Amino acid sequence: MASDTIIVETHGRVGLIRLNRPQALNAINVELMGALNAALDAFEADPQISVIVVTGSAKAFAAGADIKEMQHKTYPETLVADFIADWQRLARVRKPTIAAVAGFALGGGCEIALMCDFIIAAETAKFGQPEIKLGIMPGGGGSQRLTRAIGKARAMELCLTGRSIDATEAERAGLVARIVPADQLEAEALKTAAAIAEHSLPALLLVKEAVNRVAETSLAEGLLHERRAFQSLFATHDQKEGMAAFAEKRPAKFENR
Ligand code: CAA
Repeated sequence: MASDTIIVETHGRVGLIRLNRPQALNAINVELMGALNAALDAFEADPQISVIVVTGSAKAFAAGADIKEMQHKTYPETLVADFIADWQRLARVRKPTIAAVAGFALGGGCEIALMCDFIIAAETAKFGQPEIKLGIMPGGGGSQRLTRAIGKARAMELCLTGRSIDATEAERAGLVARIVPADQLEAEALKTAAAIAEHSLPALLLVKEAVNRVAETSLAEGLLHERRAFQSLFATHDQKEGMAAFAEKRPAKFENR
């Protein structure tokens, strides 16, 4: 279904998805989430795409779930429909994902950013889980992923008070990988994504799987998983090429990108 709630672009091997509901600060409604998930499915299936960037506007990455759309929902309706279970698609993408965040990333907006592999923030970015001010709580992973990202004390404080933090505080807390000037956000995110896309795709997928296992498993299991994944890459042509290129002092030319 075509929707103008997102704009989709490709930049070489990088797929860019821009959230686009300016009249509602990119608040995430059913239509936008459907369009986002369809775009993710398409990029995931596209052999020409290796990395996905999700971004918003200068004013807002996304100001959360659409409050006006969900305002009158009842508990049985949310339960039977498993309301917002479909939000987790982004977290299941196997290719590397980057959130490029300027302006508000609140509630569901912060949760969408947290589902990406890492966040590059403009100086203007503001992160928070303000759901408590609406008489609800995070529902798209905020209580879980924010806690894993910045630790219990900070996540508790943000979820219990609803306070937002700016880009500097978010970087200090480990929520964002890097802060860039607002007018360079998209260029920097695309440059980083393009650099990642130069690498061997099988290696990228296995790195992502191994890092994400930290949240799912014990250290011993995680180390075993990492070692087996590491060993499996010796079955790829890209490993032979990458190491030969190093020895021959030339750039690697990976075939699986
Ligand atoms: N849902 C629906 N509409 C929203 C929205 C949201 N989450 N956030 C902003 N909008 C709309 C506003 O209603 C307004 O629309 P109108 O012009 O028609 O009135 C428009 O976007 C512009 O917003 P403001 O006038 O409020 O802009 P501002 O600059 O004064 O304030 C803001 C910006 C502080 C982000 C403020 O809009 C705000 O607090 N938004 C709500 C943030 C929030 O509570 N998010 C959590 C939602 S619940 C959730 O996400 C649950 C979950 O975990 C999945």
